[in-house]
Parts: sequence; structure tokens; C-alpha cells
Amino acid sequence: MKEKKQNKILELFKPYVPKAVTHRILEGEGSLPSERSEATIIFIDIRGFTKLADQLDPEKATEIINNIFAPIVGIIDKYGGCINKFLGDGLMAIFGTPFSHEDDPERAARASIEIMKSIEENGQIKISNKIKRLKARIGINTGLCISGEIGSASRKEFTVIGDTVNLASRLQANATPGKTLIGEKTFHRIKDNFITSPPRKLKIKGKKDLVSVYTLKGEEKKISFFEQKKNSHSPFMGREKELKNLKEALKKSYQSKGQVIEISGELGIGKSRLILELTKDSLAKEFNILSGNCSSWEESKPYAPLKEIFTKIFGIKFDDDLKEIDKKIENKIKEIDSSLLFASSYFSRLLSSKIKSLEEIMEQSKEESNLLIRVVKKLLWSFSSQTPLLIIIEDMQWIDDASGEFLIQCSKEIKEYPILIIYSLRESLKKRDSIAGSKRIKLLPLKNTESDKLISLVIRENDIYKLMKDKIISTANGNPLFIEEIIRGIEERKLSADKDRLGNYPEIFANFQIPDTVQSIARARIDLLPVGLKEILYQASVLGRDIEIKLLQKITNLEVKILLEMMKELQKQEFIEEVKAASQLQRYFTFTHSLIQEIAYNSLLFKTRRNLHNKIGTVMEEMYLSKIDAKVEELAYHFKNSDDQEKAVFYLNKAGDKAQSLYAFKNAINYYLDSIKILESMELKKEQLTQLSETYNKLAFSQSIIGERKEAEINLTKALEYCRKIRDKNNESLILMSMGNLYGDMGQWDKAIEYFQDSLLISEEINNLRRKASILKGIGLTCLFKGDISTGYSYLKESINICKEIKALDVYAMALNNIGIYYDMLGRWKEAIAAYKESLSIAKKIKNIIVISNIMNNIGFAYSSLGESKQAIYYLKKSVKIANKIGDIYNKGINYIHLGEEYLKKDEFIEVKYYIFHAEKIFDELDDKLGLADIYRLKAKLLKKLKRWKDSEIFFEKAIKIYSKFGDKINEGESYYEWGDMLILKRDIDLARKNLIKSQKILRNIGAKKHLIEIEEKLNNLKK
Ligand SMILES: Nc1ncnc2c1ncn2[C@@H]1O[C@H](COP(=O)(O)OP(=O)(O)OP(=O)(O)O)[C@@H](O)[C@H]1O
Ligand SMILES: [Mg+2]
Repeated sequence: MKEKKQNKILELFKPYVPKAVTHRILEGEGSLPSERSEATIIFIDIRGFTKLADQLDPEKATEIINNIFAPIVGIIDKYGGCINKFLGDGLMAIFGTPFSHEDDPERAARASIEIMKSIEENGQIKISNKIKRLKARIGINTGLCISGEIGSASRKEFTVIGDTVNLASRLQANATPGKTLIGEKTFHRIKDNFITSPPRKLKIKGKKDLVSVYTLKGEEKKISFFEQKKNSHSPFMGREKELKNLKEALKKSYQSKGQVIEISGELGIGKSRLILELTKDSLAKEFNILSGNCSSWEESKPYAPLKEIFTKIFGIKFDDDLKEIDKKIENKIKEIDSSLLFASSYFSRLLSSKIKSLEEIMEQSKEESNLLIRVVKKLLWSFSSQTPLLIIIEDMQWIDDASGEFLIQCSKEIKEYPILIIYSLRESLKKRDSIAGSKRIKLLPLKNTESDKLISLVIRENDIYKLMKDKIISTANGNPLFIEEIIRGIEERKLSADKDRLGNYPEIFANFQIPDTVQSIARARIDLLPVGLKEILYQASVLGRDIEIKLLQKITNLEVKILLEMMKELQKQEFIEEVKAASQLQRYFTFTHSLIQEIAYNSLLFKTRRNLHNKIGTVMEEMYLSKIDAKVEELAYHFKNSDDQEKAVFYLNKAGDKAQSLYAFKNAINYYLDSIKILESMELKKEQLTQLSETYNKLAFSQSIIGERKEAEINLTKALEYCRKIRDKNNESLILMSMGNLYGDMGQWDKAIEYFQDSLLISEEINNLRRKASILKGIGLTCLFKGDISTGYSYLKESINICKEIKALDVYAMALNNIGIYYDMLGRWKEAIAAYKESLSIAKKIKNIIVISNIMNNIGFAYSSLGESKQAIYYLKKSVKIANKIGDIYNKGINYIHLGEEYLKKDEFIEVKYYIFHAEKIFDELDDKLGLADIYRLKAKLLKKLKRWKDSEIFFEKAIKIYSKFGDKINEGESYYEWGDMLILKRDIDLARKNLIKSQKILRNIGAKKHLIEIEEKLNNLKK
């Protein structure tokens, strides 16, 4: 019965199924040998399909098949698979045998995505006014199969058998309608180009162990140079030594000896190509290849290349909405290293562009900004333990400040991980230094013999080759891009010549002067284009290197069809090439080489350029309305280069805010400075004054964080001036608070308090309670530092009361921590510990890991002061543990120093030496001078206890030299005191007195009262 039904359907199919397939299924003619081979099997099941077809009259059934089944057959065929069997409501198809392709699993996946889509579109069937929606379930599995003909001589059937097939069928049975489940091996073969869910363990009938399965979600958009260039380029010449060195580095990295390699050389010399060749190495296949590009118009965009890399790591797609992005980030971090989950909000800010206000950022400590950057690194490290990473940063000469610093940090710590970072650098444009510690490969021109060979392979006509080769070799001077461009020029000349004089080459080329730079030859080629095409190329060049068709269409106002035709023509002439993208929505092209884009762009009149930038900006605003925050850097770039100053200012500020939210302070500074420059050239109405005041304030904040305090002070003063002109009270109090913070950082406590108080008055006037709590917390701490302990305490208490009232937990935790410091200063350590612990519980509630680790530190100190060494060590070690977990090696180093100090107190010298050794390693790596100074000081104290006076002195001197250079007064003063104390033990009374007096002077100047009494005492003793 069942068989009869199947055959009926099969009959209906017949016209739609490729001949070869029906042939094989029905007759089984011909003879194929049995073989073991890898194959990818798809099972597709459309629930209820046969039942439905049976209920209908044959004509209707045919129609349904027409709409639903026939496309499936077509799709399988299109991707080179074979339908093997029809089974009730579905079918089984095979990719990889008897005809195989190198990417069969990918083909199967692509086919399955298309089939799902097709069923979704066509699978609605109306039966007596009810609409029934058909849905497919698909299972895909890859693995070893036995294939061949089975059956008798009269009725042979080609089929595959084996576990792989069974599992594919089980996967299909376990898939929910509308979904495709894939097995482990399929996943590994397609994972670079497809998006899948995280793995799920499934119990499969007939299998003892659970198997890992994945839901196939979609195809990844491919953008990287490496993927798009795979097939189209001239044969590779020379570079044997360079490639060998790169391969060796790859091997070393594979063995967890990570390194950084720089590839430098002039335009078009073959940097990108060399890297491309490396990615074809068989070992490179074991790596996860992540590439990020820098471009001249993204120089200020924070983390431009890193964003590309993390977009790939998290599997984020072009049209994902914010929610999806967050979900993907969380899932992936969970999979890589769940202890870093706390940082997911930072990543989502990085990738989905949520912008924080200045006030929110000000509440975060400086440590947080440092820490999150470290977490990004730690995530990479952990990720590399799954699969080794090959990170490629292209065109480093245009890297933005934040990414540049990030890379420098990475390269210091990379040594123990299976990571190879390669960056390319165009030398003439080099604006920054090479990364210290990177291995450098400098590409020189190809040898003449190599050039010759390249020319002979690219020019296929012997006549032209003979005629031109010497000219080309001497003009191109070993630059492969130059060679390619010259040959393209010749091709074009030949084409136009073919029309009039067939094949009369000598005449055509005898007088042909090859321009002597690659720029002019490329320009000459552009000039040969018909006006219309040239126009398109020019307009496209304003978009940047990537040309999004939808955007270009809106700018040119051409019909898509016509535009695409023109693009095809430009592609034929090798000016641009198409990039394979996942969705039709986002079809785009790219310039074959940045040179073409640069030349086209530079040929535009300034006025035309400005108009085009304006047009692009305006179109982008419409196109990305719902995702505008993700595009602010691009919009800032286009409007900055247009005549629309207002929009330029608007987007520059936004881009600055975004950079600040990502703690990319140098980038933020660049944006704000650009914005201010435009604003100050405008007529200053109220709106401009407001913007100026806000922008100066934000600029100053970024500057103060990166240590440009003088500049920050000047700019805050300007912000205040503008703000007072328009009487904006709210902003005025914010700026005054910033002033307070800045002077506090600089140790000018009286001035800080003055500004805080002014700010406080205004915040009361405008009744901004949250602001008030923040200010009070700041004043309180400043008073403590200054030595006005009881005043400080009352401010802090007031802050705490407000925080409780308005439930501002973050400020609350920090104010409580400051109360702890208050008790600490009074030597009331038990109370200090109680306050810290209360603060700790709030910090835990709001999951602020930075505050948590800070407080742990403070508790450790307090116990240490209390003489409870065991507890002190417990808390310090706990803090180390947190630091370790989140990759915060800076704090780990700091904690090691404190632990060393603690053990020094107990005279456990071996422990002390251990911590000194490891801390020094960390700060050496980080190149953190102040951290090193702390270590020298600890060494000095250790040597002092060991009575090795001379050595001790050397280290005190070393530490003091650094402290004084960085203006770290407290530590400088304290070190002089400790040194003086050592000299007393050594009985070098004169020098001891000198140092104690120096110490006294420094500490008194900054109002640090803690040691002053002791110093006084010692000096008095010396007099006796
Ligand atoms: N050794 C080589 N053999 C053959 N062709 C090469 C070789 N090196 C480079 N090419 C070709 O020359 C062109 C320019 O090379 P590539 O893009 O790698 O230059 P680049 O140094 O990266 O330039 P840029 O500084 O602009 O990034 C490419 O089309 C590339 O395929
Ligand atoms: Mg390049």
C-alpha cells in the first residue's frame, strides 16, 4: 500500500526531476563500483505532504508538487547533489558520491537553507478555505559511507549505507519543523561560512553516547579579502624565503608560541598577496582565520578592525537586531569562558553601538576602562584554546589609536598562546612605529627573472609579450601591481586597436609610452573608460573601498538593473570585483585594489566631492534610520567632508560619545577636536554655545583619563565659560564636578574642594539628587586625603543617605568604600573592615566586579594593618583569583606586591622573593614603570631587612627616580622616609637626616599627615 502511494508521487515528480536522477532511481542502469567515501547526506521531511496530496484530485496535487517539491529537486540539482530516494513525505539526497566536490558539506548546507526558504514561500495550501502551512524538517550529516549498487541484476539501485546515513535520518526526525539539524562533522566542515546554534547534546536511538548536534541558522556574509580573492589572481612568483619564514611562524604559533609579524613594503608590492598565500598552507586550515581591515577613512573609528574580528567570533550578521546581537554575544562568551560574562555588556556596546552619556562614564572608575580592554584580550586567549587563531590586520598604517594600543598590549602577552598576528604596513604612509617585539618582513621588488615569468604568464600572446616585456620590466621595477596594471592597459589598447587594424601589433605598440608610475598608468586606464562608467567609478570611490549597491543606486539615481550592468562592465575591466554576500539585500562590490579607489577619489573636484559626501550622508541617514548609532562614524566622516556643518558637528559628537563609551579615549579626543574646530568657525548662537560647552567638557574628560591634565584643565575652563554664557545650570554643575575630579587627581585638594562645593550648590538649586550624591562622595574622599577627616566623614554620610533614598547602588557602594578608607585612616580597622564588607555585598548585588576586586584589596590592607596576617593574605589571594579569572594581569601584579609586603612583615623571605619575581615579570611585560617602582621599593625593603645596605640603597634610588618622574608624591615621600629609616639602622646619620627632611617636605606639601608624626619623632631622636 505504502509503496503504491510512493510510486504515484514519484510518477507525478518525474517531469521535474533531472533525467539522470530518475534514471538511477527507477531503472538503476549502468554500473558503479562500490566504494568507501565521505559523503554528506540530507534527509528532508515535509510533514503531511502525502496525506494532503492524496486528499486532492490529481490536477490539484500536481499543482502542489509544482510549487513545493519541484523547487526542492531543482535546488539539490543546482548544488550538485543527487536525490537518492523518495520516502513518504520526503526524500533523501546525497552530496559527495558518486560525484564529489571539495565543498560538499557546504553545498548541502546551502541547499538546505534554500529549500527551507522555498517551502516557507510556497508551502501555503488552501483547502476549503483553510490555509495549511507546510514545514520541512531537515537533517544533515557528513561521514564515511559505503556506496554502490545494491539489488539484483534486473533491479539495481544506487545507494549509500552506514552509520552516517542512519544518523542523518535521526537528525531529521529530531529537528523541529522549519529547522535543520546538522551533525558534528558537518558542523566542522561548514562552520567558517555558516551560522549555527551552540552545540546541543542529543540522545539518539541506537547510540550509546550522546551526540552533539547544531541547528543551522544561515550563511555568513563573506567579506574578507582572503575569501573573495581565492580564485582570481595572477600566478604567485618568488617570495620563497618570506613564505618559509611565515610558515615557520605559523608552526611555532600552533605550538602555543604566539608571535606578531609585520609585513611592510610599498604600495602594491604584494603584502596582502603574501598573507593570502600563507592562508592556503595546510597548517593554516587548522587555524581560525580572523581578519580585520583598517582604511584611511576609518582612522578615527574606534576598534574598526577589532570589530570585524569580533563580529566574526560572535557570528553576528548584518541584519541582526540588538536583541539578537546581545544573545549571540552572551552565548558565545558562555561557550568560550563563562567567567567573562560580566563583560558582555561591553562587547554589546562595541558591536551594537549603544552610547553612554558622559555622566554614566564618569561614574565608572578608570580601572574599569583599563580592565575591560584586558577582558577583550583574555577572551581572545581563551578562544585560542579552542582553535588556534591567525589574526590578520591589513593596512596597519591606517589603524585607529584604540586598536593600535590594543595590538601593542596583545603582542606583549601573546607568547604563550596559539595565536599568530600578522599585520601589513604600507611603508611610505607609516605614521606609527612598528609594534615592539614583532618580527619584520620587508618586501623588496621582485627579481627581473620573476617579473619576466609573471609577465609571460599573464600576457598570453607571445607577440605582445616579446614586444613589451623589456619595457614592462624596466618600468614596473619589480612591483607586481605595476606589472598587472601595465598589462591591463595593454589589453585595453589592444582591444581598441583590434577594431581597426587586426593584429598589427608592432605599429600599435611602437610608440606606446608606459607612464612611469603605477598611479599614472592606473589613471590612464580610468581615463579610457566611457564617460558614464567613469562617473560611476568616481561616485563609488566616495563610498570608500566597499561599494554597497543599494547605497550607490540611491546616489546615482540609476535603475538597479542598469547600475548592475555598469558594475559588471567595470568588473570585466578589473576595476572592481563582486563580493559574495549572504543576502540579496546587501549586494556589494569592492575596488580590486585600494589604488583605484584612491585615484578615482583624488580626481574629483573638491566641490563635487563635498556634494557627494553630503548626498551619501543623507541617503545613509534614511537607509539606516533604525540603526543610526551603528553608523555614526561613517556619517561623521561623510558630513565632515561635506558642506553641512551642523550635521558634521552632530555626528562627530556622537562618534566621540561612542568612542568614549568604548573607553577609546584617544579616538574620542580626535572626534571632539574636529567638532570643536567646525563649531568655532560657525556663528555662535545659543545652540552652538551649548554644544561647545558640552563638547569641551567631554574632551577634557577623555584628556584627563589619558593623563593630559594640563589640556583638560584649559578645556574645562573653556567649557565653563561657554556654559555660563547661556546659563545652563545643569551642565555648569557637571563641569564644576569634573573640575573637582581633575584637581583631586592632581593632588590639588583645596582647589578640588572649592569646585566640588560650587558644583554642590548648583545641584541643590536644580535639585539633581543623583549628581549631589556623586559630588558629596567626591568631596568626602578629597577631604579625607587632605586630612580633614571628620568633615570628609560627614560628606560621605550625607552621600550615603541620598543614595539610600534614590537607590543609587553604584554610588552607594563606592561611598561606603570611602567610609572604610576613613576608618582606615583613623586606625579603626575593625570598623573599616565592616564598612568594606557592607560595600562588598552591594557591589556583589550589582555585579560590579571591578569594585568587588578593589574592595577585596582594601579589606586585605585593613587586616594587614590590624596585624591579622592570615586574613590579609586570604583576601589578597582572593583578589588575585578574581584578577586571574578575568585576565586582569595588572591587578594581579599589584596584588602580588601587596602579598610580598605582607610576607615581608612576617619575615618569610622566600615567599617575598616569589612574589617579587612574578610581579616584576608582569610589570616588565606591561612596561608599567610605576608598577616597577613599587617592586624596586619592595626589593629595597627586603634588602634592608637582610641588612644588605648598599643594594637596598640602589633600589630605593631607582624607585624614587621613577616616582618623582611621574609626580607620584605620596610614594616618593614615603620612600624617602623608608630609606631614611634604613640609613639610621646603617648609622649613616647625615644622609638619614637629609632623606627624612626631604620626605617631610614632600608629604607636608601634599598634606599627607599619616607619616609626619613618625618622621618628626625620628628627626628628634637623631638630634639626640
Ligand atoms: N609575488 C607575486 N606574484 C604574483 N602576483 C603578485 C605577487 N605579489 C603581489 N601580486 C599581485 O599584485 C597585486 C598587488 O598586490 P597586493 O595587493 O598584495 O599589494 P599590497 O602590498 O598589499 O598593496 P597595498 O599597500 O596597496 O595594500 C595583486 O593583484 C597581487 O595578486
Ligand atoms: Mg594590501
